[in-house]
Amino acid sequence: MRAREASAKAVARVVGQRGSLNEALAAVAERVAPEERPLLSELSYGALRFYPALEPLLGKLLQKPLKAKDLEVHTLLICALYQLCHTRIPDHAVVNESVDAAKSLKRPWARGLINGVLRRFLREREQIETALSGDLAAQSAHPLWLVEAIEQAWPEQAALILAANNQRAPLTLRLNISRKAREAYLAENFSNGGAAPTAYSDYGVQLEHPRPVDNIPGFAGGLVSVQDEAAQLAAQLLAARPGERVLDACCAPGGKTCHLLELTPDLYQLDAVDIERRRLDRVRENLDRLQLNATLIEADVTATSEWWDGRAFDRILLDAPCSATGVIRRHPDIKLLRQVGDVAKLAKLQRDMLARLWPLLKHGGRLLYATCSILPAENDEVVAAFLESTTDARLVPVASPAGIKTGYGRQLLPQVGGHDGFYYALLEKYHSP
Ligand SMILES: C[S@@+](CC[C@H](N)C(=O)[O-])C[C@H]1O[C@@H](n2cnc3c(N)ncnc32)[C@H](O)[C@@H]1O
Repeated sequence: MRAREASAKAVARVVGQRGSLNEALAAVAERVAPEERPLLSELSYGALRFYPALEPLLGKLLQKPLKAKDLEVHTLLICALYQLCHTRIPDHAVVNESVDAAKSLKRPWARGLINGVLRRFLREREQIETALSGDLAAQSAHPLWLVEAIEQAWPEQAALILAANNQRAPLTLRLNISRKAREAYLAENFSNGGAAPTAYSDYGVQLEHPRPVDNIPGFAGGLVSVQDEAAQLAAQLLAARPGERVLDACCAPGGKTCHLLELTPDLYQLDAVDIERRRLDRVRENLDRLQLNATLIEADVTATSEWWDGRAFDRILLDAPCSATGVIRRHPDIKLLRQVGDVAKLAKLQRDMLARLWPLLKHGGRLLYATCSILPAENDEVVAAFLESTTDARLVPVASPAGIKTGYGRQLLPQVGGHDGFYYALLEKYHSP
């Protein structure tokens, strides 16, 4: 299968709400020649990143919407518009290859339509773009509900957040500094540049250009892992000490589990829970590569009677399932998959998780609440509601200069060329009078 046909199929799967982009790419990638896979990835990520802008553009070019059964023709056109608007692929190559792809998609009748639509776009681009200049979703390439939520939460930073969300994320590494100092790693492997230490994480190295993990010095031997800088702060903020019992409540794929163990190898125990078996396999793979060990538990963490042995934890990390609105640039399919009502449902789950895990914490113990969301409904508001209904919980300041201090924690917003969006709040259990 050629890259254009495959990207039309992958994007259609996401648009049709039949799974994430990762799943969609996994379903087609093996049938695409290895040398065409980078193009498949570029077209699929790009088309979804700009989908909320490209979809209305296509709407202006089509006389009537395509039928549901021709969704792959629709997404082929979206991928073609992405190439014309955002890549340097020559216009004639985009038009010809897209027309040819219609045949591979078993829609030969669509060849004339694709040719006509794309040529019309090239002729009338300026007028069509002008006609969309007042369309907030099209201008920001975000669904309207999300632009409005971001503008409401972060009026001053909204423009930068939206811009960051539309960029490619940098590749950031986490170095195991107990094995090698960061300066030494950089000097040995990047003496001519191409990588720099991260500003807020003591373990981070940000690469100037992405590369496959096989080409990252020290990856195979477990010296470095791929992890965004914002996520690297979790283990540091939890600050577990030797001999402690720690719970990583929503652990998969295990980035923070591994970091916790790298920082404090002599914990008494680390229980790492996740509800999804397939994702727990990824945790196992990560632990194995880094030669680390944790007790992996497949369970709904809120059903504590089914997995907890009754011995309280000194530290709990709750990296809760969330809207992932802080990591849109890494997962642009979020723009299509998340719906406005999801945020309230997630907030309810997050509150429930906090309330159910709190009794598992020792007196004097600490729980770090984290999300990769930038929406207060999943962050400060969850913590506020929890504190209101809990007598033995108090806030501890989040000891990091990263991001913005909020009422209850710290909010990191996605940075152009920098870290992802993330939220942290730290809670301590004390003896209520
Ligand atoms: C934000 S991700 C965790 C990322 C992880 N901490 C890391 O750093 O790699 C949230 C995880 O919560 C898991 N999850 C969702 N609901 C759960 C539940 N009720 N019990 C346990 N895990 C759950 C999901 O499967 C997902 O792996």
